[in-house]
Amino acid sequence: MGSPTTSTTTTPAAADGKTGVSKLNALFPHTVNPVIVSAPMFWTTNGVISAEVSKAGGIGIIPAGFLFQPGSYQLTDLATELKAARETLGLADEPQTRIPVGVGFILAHPSTEHFLETALPVLQTHLPQAVWLFAPNPQDVAAGKIRRIIEALHASGFVVMYQVGTVATARGAAADGADVIIAQGIDAGGHQNAAGAGIVSLVPEVVDMLKAEFADKETVALAAGGVADGRGVAAALQLGADGVVLGSRFCLAKEAWTPEFRRKLIQETVDGGTSTIKSTFHDDIQATAIWPSVYDGRAIRGPYFEDHVAGVSFEENLKRYEVAKENKDNSRLVTWMGTGVGLINADAQPAAEIVRELREEAKERIRSLHSAFQ
Ligand SMILES: Cc1cc2nc3c(=O)[nH]c(=O)nc-3n(C[C@H](O)[C@H](O)[C@H](O)COP(=O)(O)O)c2cc1C
Repeated sequence: MGSPTTSTTTTPAAADGKTGVSKLNALFPHTVNPVIVSAPMFWTTNGVISAEVSKAGGIGIIPAGFLFQPGSYQLTDLATELKAARETLGLADEPQTRIPVGVGFILAHPSTEHFLETALPVLQTHLPQAVWLFAPNPQDVAAGKIRRIIEALHASGFVVMYQVGTVATARGAAADGADVIIAQGIDAGGHQNAAGAGIVSLVPEVVDMLKAEFADKETVALAAGGVADGRGVAAALQLGADGVVLGSRFCLAKEAWTPEFRRKLIQETVDGGTSTIKSTFHDDIQATAIWPSVYDGRAIRGPYFEDHVAGVSFEENLKRYEVAKENKDNSRLVTWMGTGVGLINADAQPAAEIVRELREEAKERIRSLHSAFQ
């Protein structure tokens, strides 16, 4: 196999002379500023949506799951999604060309020990531009296992992105060699650090730390959590982020696998500070027991959560959950969602349109602030 080449399927408008070329643009030459990233969301996003985001000048991250044992069905599915992304990007006839998407792995499961023998070959075959790491077991970090994964990914030419929730874990990720740190605040939908801060304080502190302690590396910082529209994107950029990651907003993209009942629930839910909640109970009720105790997750407060708060025993709650599932009643299923849910109410939009809209809204916001304070 010869050296993979980097795709230039989209015009690098970041290099249009107006916005300048940042380190992020250099790592992802197809990107257009401000750079919008669609988060990997397991069982929700896929190869097609990620490719559409990248075609629009953003960076789409394909979710790959958390199981790495030999024969893992999740890695077989990942290969399928990478092929779909390659086709959507029009690069099916150029297997040696890297595709400008990332692949997002959750490293919480003990089978992470097989990563290099099972996941790496899939990546080397299908050649995404980047690999996104999230939620390692702290013991694996301390033992240098994640550093070894990062070194192997670098040796194969992948950009390494690493989602973290605290300044300390950002420091660890940068020290282990990550090229891009995603500072994920506690407004985020889905899993995250149980103890954390919102991006208003987290992002500038991470940015300052990276500048002070890793100046030679020019580590890129992205913001994630609670951003749902162009105002949020503009705010995150003002905080010092080089680009912005959105998850919840892309749950309503046309290409997402979000089922109809969840789309309706998301559209109807408002006031995310009260309608969503960070807790480990969401995982308890659906028996997703892979998460080390430093993580919890934010989801919509469903009837199962209200029962829990009202003192219903876990056994009874679980029984209600199972009975509802058997009766095809979706109301007790967990819907992971960020606090920005009240801002997400438009009908399904193509992912590329979401990217362009966010970018234009953010630019407009920044311009109007600029002129207001001239
Ligand atoms: C439905 C859903 C599923 C998610 N699944 C994953 C995942 O599989 N891997 C991951 O690294 N992050 C996952 N996340 C978290 C995102 O990476 C990101 O931090 C978050 O969506 C950003 O906050 P926002 O939802 O407020 O935009 C998920 C988030 C949501 C809402």
